[in-house]
Amino acid sequence: MRFHLSDSGTLSLREPMDFKRLEVLIDPQPPEAVERAIHRIGRRESATHVRIAPSVLRFVSGHAGEPEWEEGFARMLDYAQRSGWVDDAGQVRAHISHAGQEDVVSIDEFKTALRALPAGICAVSTGQGDKVAGMIVSSLTAVCAEPPMIGFFAHRQSSFTAPLLESGRFVANVLGEGHDAVMAQFLQAPQGLARFSDERWCSESGQAPVLSDALASMECDVVWTQTLGTHVLVVGKVRRSRHSPSNPVVHFNAATHRIAA
Ligand SMILES: Cc1cc2nc3c(=O)[nH]c(=O)nc-3n(C[C@H](O)[C@H](O)[C@H](O)COP(=O)(O)O)c2cc1C
Repeated sequence: MRFHLSDSGTLSLREPMDFKRLEVLIDPQPPEAVERAIHRIGRRESATHVRIAPSVLRFVSGHAGEPEWEEGFARMLDYAQRSGWVDDAGQVRAHISHAGQEDVVSIDEFKTALRALPAGICAVSTGQGDKVAGMIVSSLTAVCAEPPMIGFFAHRQSSFTAPLLESGRFVANVLGEGHDAVMAQFLQAPQGLARFSDERWCSESGQAPVLSDALASMECDVVWTQTLGTHVLVVGKVRRSRHSPSNPVVHFNAATHRIAA
């Protein structure tokens, strides 16, 4: 098995059924990012080795509890023990290997491709009282219906992201025709109450602002976050939703378009 420390910030176990080797595979990334990732999975022993607790491997394997996997894993740990690769704390020694530079598309090519993707526009709100925050996103998507979950990607440096993660709740308000002012305010006003001065924003005590005439407003609890490159994937379970009949808009080729009736 290989613990992959990717340059996207993900930590995952590759080939979890291969019990013949234990390796830490590191994508090219700045030294401080490498050390942060190693710290999350165990501890660096030397330039070439990392120590990892078996419980961490079990957790990320996705197979813990399956008889076949448990049997292979026990055999692997036993072999490591007999070979002197397990220390007094029970941590196993894993060899570090470095992945080569992968081919990726240029940022310009990436943006050109994504400009071709029509997407809905949402004003996402979080916080309550005078500690509210909001952001326009076009990355909102359904995750699944059972349980009802939606997700979006928030830039880590956005002034919205820290209040969102602190609150653990958000409302995704789907914008339509007639919401130009709401959108402009979110994009131009300073973060906080100033973004919510439009009279259509309603606040019930203890929850994030809801846009009363949004096409849909979905009130969510954050159930999962994952840092991926510059963004955080935020997944919420939808506790309540409301609807208002209105004409939708889409973001396409860097502009907002009405959908002709
Ligand atoms: C149509 C549109 C869609 C956007 N979608 C996203 C998105 O999905 N995720 C994101 O982090 N920022 C998105 N942005 C940028 C944010 O709305 C915001 O401008 C940026 O994060 C700066 O935020 P701040 O002023 O709140 O710090 C989008 C902007 C526009 C105009």
